[in-house]
Amino acid sequence: MYKLNGSVTDETDFFKGNDVYDLIAAYGSPLYVYNEGIIRKRCRELKGLVSYPDFLVQYSAKANTGLAFLQIVKSEGLHVDAMSPGEIYAELEAGFKPEDIFMITNNVSEDEMRFAIDRNILICVDSTEQLRQYGRLNPGSSVAIRFNGGIGAGHHEKVVTAGKKTKFGVNPEYIPEVKKILSEYGLKLAGIQQHIGSLFMDSEPYINGSQAILDIAKQFDDLGFIDFGGGFGIPYKKLSGQPRLDLRECGKRLDEVFYGFAKDYGKKLTFRIEPGRYISAESSVLLTDVHCTKYNGPHKFAGTDIGFNVLVRPAMYDSHHDIEVYTRENRSAKEEEITIVGNICESGDIIAKDRLLPEIKAGDILGILDAGAYGHSMSSNYNNRLRPAEVLIRENGQVVLTRRRDTLEQLLENYIKLDI
Ligand code: LLP
Repeated sequence: MYKLNGSVTDETDFFKGNDVYDLIAAYGSPLYVYNEGIIRKRCRELKGLVSYPDFLVQYSAKANTGLAFLQIVKSEGLHVDAMSPGEIYAELEAGFKPEDIFMITNNVSEDEMRFAIDRNILICVDSTEQLRQYGRLNPGSSVAIRFNGGIGAGHHEKVVTAGKKTKFGVNPEYIPEVKKILSEYGLKLAGIQQHIGSLFMDSEPYINGSQAILDIAKQFDDLGFIDFGGGFGIPYKKLSGQPRLDLRECGKRLDEVFYGFAKDYGKKLTFRIEPGRYISAESSVLLTDVHCTKYNGPHKFAGTDIGFNVLVRPAMYDSHHDIEVYTRENRSAKEEEITIVGNICESGDIIAKDRLLPEIKAGDILGILDAGAYGHSMSSNYNNRLRPAEVLIRENGQVVLTRRRDTLEQLLENYIKLDI
């Protein structure tokens, strides 16, 4: 294979000598390819983020719920969050212990709460009504509460999760009611949580947001932990030289916040963070076959098999993913403007609009970079398409299949035919 542009996968030795044409021949297109070493590296970077000793990194599993992915994160000693019984189920299967799992709920049913309670998993509720519901189901136990400190941030309005316009968290004005409910049901408040939103490239909003949750924390005497949520960003525009989040500076500022607060609080408490994207995004390149190219007027299109059922981020948030072009023959890399599209019957089915890339031809393979977060986990069977396989490149370069591609039979297995 030849590569016409970009140096990202070379710099990280992403494919470890494996040829993308061989990978597609063996596992089909499209294909999520993961690099184990990158997953481990990101876990270790965040574990070492601060010097404050009582610090816990909980991987936010919604970014990538693959079993092998979870197993790797577990083996790095991280804890994990869960949004649903389905995530808990996968996490327990991957080897996490109930005490490693923190269920952060949003509008859950009694049955869903009971699922976690029955498995001794700590639950974080995000409304006073859900706190009551929890109290009725599990009086005399420990619980955590998600607060909405009023400061939100994120790469798109759809991923800002604090502030008055969002559905998340308990507004601090309800703290007196919270205290009443806690005492009514004999509940102990184990910790409090916030998540201001997804993707910051500069630690400022995260640090500012932390003040809001700390002000709330001061109003409770005996907290075991404060969870600051996720949001740590990755540079999606590496090909244009976008710098990384400065983790050293972020860690230094967080240390100041942690040590400062713990001293004033007068009690040892644990600080938690909850990154999803930072740990998973850069660990995957999504490969796709180019099936055809064509012009509509002056606009050139390359048609691939990555519909928004495979990677929804560009269609849903206008997200940018860098693209590398791989070819069988060594061609000159003349650049042109091209729109990369999928195979779904909607005109919004676009992966990259008017992108300047080396000339692309049918038979080329494209690598969509940074696809490991909110890629496969948000994929669907829309248009009755099969969700792709996932493979992992181990640290020794060996390729293993970690998820089979869906089958046609699976598409129909839950349907019940009429007797007509
Ligand atoms: N904690 C909670 C409670 C969350 O809701 C989230 C993400 C995280 C942690 C992890 O955030 P991260 O570190 O990954 O930014 N689908 C969108 C992102 C949605 C994030 C939802 N919540 C995307 O593809 O950009």
